[in-house]
Amino acid sequence: MDRIRIVGGHKLSGVIPVSGAKNAALPLMIASLLTPEPLTLENVPRLADVRLLIRILENHGVDHAIDGKRTGDAPGAGQTIHFSAKNIVDTVAPYELVSRMRASFWVLAPLLARMGEARVSLPGGCAIGTRPVDLLLMALERLGAEIDIESGYVVARAPKGLRGGEIDFPKVTVGGTHTALMAAALAHGDTLIRNAACEPEVTDLAACLIAMGAKISGAGTPTIEVQGVASLHGARHAVLPDRIEAGTYAMAVAMTGGDVLLEGARADLLQNALDALARTGTTVTAEDAGLRIVRNGAGIAPVDVTTAPFPGFPTDLQAQFMGLMTRSEGVSRITETIFENRFMHVQELARLGARIRLDGDTAIVEGVRRLKGAPVMATDLRASVSLVIAGLAAEGDTTVHRVYHLDRGFERLEQKLVACGAQIERISDPG
Ligand code: UD1
Repeated sequence: MDRIRIVGGHKLSGVIPVSGAKNAALPLMIASLLTPEPLTLENVPRLADVRLLIRILENHGVDHAIDGKRTGDAPGAGQTIHFSAKNIVDTVAPYELVSRMRASFWVLAPLLARMGEARVSLPGGCAIGTRPVDLLLMALERLGAEIDIESGYVVARAPKGLRGGEIDFPKVTVGGTHTALMAAALAHGDTLIRNAACEPEVTDLAACLIAMGAKISGAGTPTIEVQGVASLHGARHAVLPDRIEAGTYAMAVAMTGGDVLLEGARADLLQNALDALARTGTTVTAEDAGLRIVRNGAGIAPVDVTTAPFPGFPTDLQAQFMGLMTRSEGVSRITETIFENRFMHVQELARLGARIRLDGDTAIVEGVRRLKGAPVMATDLRASVSLVIAGLAAEGDTTVHRVYHLDRGFERLEQKLVACGAQIERISDPG
């Protein structure tokens, strides 16, 4: 199993290209199930989750072709992938595949909408709380689906097709909103989605569905209207830049000090996190090419944050911000409101010398002068990168174990950091 070894204490300077967003690419790839015509996605990140989803889609009969390198492509430029779900040969998504990535459960909606039936294993994914799917199933039921749970599988049927309806989410859910959008796009009649997620990845999915012929208005606001259409056609769509990856590197620079241009990053996708970063004493400047993050000399001021649905502070940056706060000059409070139990990084950060106390859904972080390198264990995707951030600023060696978590969501992490002066390497164990 691979490990990552970091020798801390190096400032970051240079350019980090921001990849396409994992959390947009996954639902966009799944949307290819909605049409027999080809869907071409540009700027798809090279990630383990993308490769796994390709396997899951192949199992349903989706063909794919990845464009080769083109003259002038930057190293590591996003991939262009053509998906074709001409013939869906299987509407079952088996446990062996779905249990490895929660987002693959979202195939349920397009399979049901196009084929009138689907059988999808209940999901797995990051161990950050219970993460139920009740709201996704509620959305489909509102559109006329009959749902049963049989031997760990969700069996959904709509033999005469889905029909438009009203979906009122009691809680903001990204996956629920993706599900509602994909199902309503091919339902008979109109659908109204209330308390929809406003995350940029939802807006990106809606833009792609519109390019495929769907009639959707209001995406990016809490109220979305969808007029169902009989069929969707092929389209070409570029995945939006990864705001979580951009925010992660911004926090790494704030942590180590230095001057880095996050190429392709967009401030509008993570304004709340950038504001928090600015309050820590880091300079954030929007430039034509992306976002410039600079911290020179000044200490890190303590800043309180509370996670919230977009446009609030993203839960997917909570662990990284906590990593930064471990070195602040004071006490900060970090409150997690989206997922229970998303504090598994706390005990690992403590191994590096961080002082963090948990009080319900709040972590109270008392900044320390120095962190000291140690072996640590990655527990989930975002938690693991918070350990990398802390390791970059810790004295001596930090080894992060179980880096397969990182590979799910961060493309060429070591290369991007090395190019900016970090001392970080991957150690592959034989066998
Ligand atoms: C997506 C993101 C994840 C991010 C999260 C919140 C992807 C692939 N994953 O996950 O990185 O952390 O949004 O921004 O895009 N809930 C229910 N019932 C449901 C569904 C959700 O109670 O049926 C709850 C969850 O337990 C959680 C909250 O709703 O407390 C938000 O979850 P949700 O937005 O659905 O997260 P995901 O779509 O799974």
